[in-house]
Parts: sequence; C-alpha cells; structure tokens
Amino acid sequence: MPKIVIAIDGYSSCGKSTTAKAVAARMSYGYIDTGAMYRAVSLYFIQERVSLSNSREVTAALEKIHITFNHNNRTGKNETCLNSLNVEDEIRKMYISNIVSEVSAIPEVRWAMVAQQQKMGRRRGVVMDGRDIGTKVFPDAEVKVFMTADTYTRARRRQQELLAKGELINLDDIIQNLEKRDLIDTTRIESPLRQADDAILLDTSHMTIEEQVDWVIELADRRLAEL
Ligand code: DC
Repeated sequence: MPKIVIAIDGYSSCGKSTTAKAVAARMSYGYIDTGAMYRAVSLYFIQERVSLSNSREVTAALEKIHITFNHNNRTGKNETCLNSLNVEDEIRKMYISNIVSEVSAIPEVRWAMVAQQQKMGRRRGVVMDGRDIGTKVFPDAEVKVFMTADTYTRARRRQQELLAKGELINLDDIIQNLEKRDLIDTTRIESPLRQADDAILLDTSHMTIEEQVDWVIELADRRLAEL
C-alpha cells in the first residue's frame, strides 16, 4: 500500500488537530502539528527576549531551536519538545496564542519551519495540520482538506480546550484573539492562509469529531484506491 501525505489546513479551532491526530492513529501514520512548532518558536523568543523586528537576532535564535515530537507511552499523548524539554502545556497558553501569529508571519521563521516540516514528511505516511501545508509545505499532498467553522463555534471550542487545562478565559477575549489571528494569518506576505486550489472545503460547524475523522478517512481511502 503506498503512503500518502494528508494536509489539513484551515482556521484555528476548527478541530484540525484533533481530527488530524485521530486520522493518523487510524491509518498508523505519523502526525505533525505544525502550529505547535510556531508556538514553540514563540515560547523560545519570549524566554530569550528575541526582538521580533531584528532579523539578525531572529536568525541566530532559530539556529538554537530544535523542535521534536515525542509520544508519551504513559499518558498516550503527543508532546512538543523544545530543545528536549516538554513544552506541550506551556505553548497552549493564551500568552503564546497572543503572539504566535506575529511570530509565524516572520519570513525567516517560516523558511526554517517549512524546511523542517518537509524533512519530517519526506517519507510520506504523515498527516500534517497547519495553515500552509497544502499550498507551501506539501503542494503535492495526495489529500488536501481546508477546514472552516463559524467564529462562535470555534471560540466555544477553544474556550472548552483552555478550560480543560485550567485556564478560564471569557468568550469575547477568545473571539478577539481568533479574529486577530485570522487577519494576520490570511494577510501576511509569506505563504498566507488560503485554501489550495485542489483542497476540499470542510465546514465543521455542525460536525462531531468522529464525523470529521470519518470524512477525512473516506477521502484518503478513495485517493489511495486511485494510486
Ligand atoms: O494551529 P494553531 O492555532 O496551534 O497555530 C498557531 C499559529 O501558528 C496560528 O495562529 C498560525 C500559525 N501557523 C502558521 O502560520 N502556519 C502553520 N503551518 C501552522 C500554524
């Protein structure tokens, strides 16, 4: 059976990561959360007080950043590691969400991350979620999905996610954060968030995670049958 690349792009909090993770598990594929990589870079920049407008500082810092994903057998969860340290919980916090779009709009950051993502997926057999997977990282991905959902649904989902981690944030602040990130993500110069011409649109506003997973698997199966 050939192995393919499944690219899942779209807006934040549409269920991309949860769906991608479950699809990867069902297909015994690797899962790469590219948003986590931009979040880890943001955390490093904050910790090391890197000036976002100083491209020399940014480039020097990027050389010191090593991001890996580790599957914790005890918890059964994927962990994002920044220079071998588990930063999974830290990078999901609101103070990171507040600067990650700005960080991920920096061309040097994108070049470095895209190169790493292409390396991670070079043997195919991966499900990758992000904003530019189908347009930039793997324009030749066999399956491309572009996820969307209405802002209120996305904000409620994000609020539940944060609450599960003990962070109580009011809905208006979340909506504001989502709208600001959408604007930066879709208007940045370097590979902005957009639906690839050959990506299939999936509006998840009224779908359960199970339905989303089944939908993507069906699409992948159909594609695999054609190869
Ligand atoms: O998927 P997420 O919300 O964790 O992503 C965090 C931010 O990273 C998001 O606001 C945009 C950016 N991002 C990106 O620019 N390109 C990607 N491939 C993935 C994420």
